[in-house]
Amino acid sequence: MKRTAVYPGSFDPITNGHLDIIRRSARTFDKVYVAVLVNSAKSPMFPTQQRVDMIKKVTSDLDNVEVDFFSGLLVDYMQEKNAGIIIKGLRAMSDFEYEFQMALMNHKLSKDIETLFMMTSAKYQYLSSSIVKEVGRHGGCLDGLVPEILKDEIIAGITKK
Ligand code: PNS
Repeated sequence: MKRTAVYPGSFDPITNGHLDIIRRSARTFDKVYVAVLVNSAKSPMFPTQQRVDMIKKVTSDLDNVEVDFFSGLLVDYMQEKNAGIIIKGLRAMSDFEYEFQMALMNHKLSKDIETLFMMTSAKYQYLSSSIVKEVGRHGGCLDGLVPEILKDEIIAGITKK
């Protein structure tokens, strides 16, 4: 049986912590869709297509990973892709309550869907897109926080007026 998983998120922008989860998921599942949320209410810093393109650039070596975007309910997107597993990265305990709530709600909306949590690697425990934007905005060094080949593009996006 083919195991298809979806790794959803805002990825505004992708960090090395996200990339670590994507690479480990690609080794665990037959097919992984990285699904970028088109978050109209949240007004992301990076446009949807740019977030998708940046993830594509750093996952092009992974044959079983496809980068896509979605709007509306995640469970509806999953049904469209015939996927039964949601992958979530879990950092500190502080992530847990919100993630637990989302996992329960997604399971309520679709009984066939399971959420699997992957522990973030120790070196990325403190990392988030928000902290990358905060550091970048004030001219701090993003080395090791975001993929090297995206660093200039990310800094340009953060600092542009
Ligand atoms: O990277 P983020 O912003 O923490 O990702 C949140 C995401 C995209 C996983 C979540 O907001 C989501 O699934 N949104 C789609 C709307 C939905 O299905 N909501 C019901 C689940 S509670």
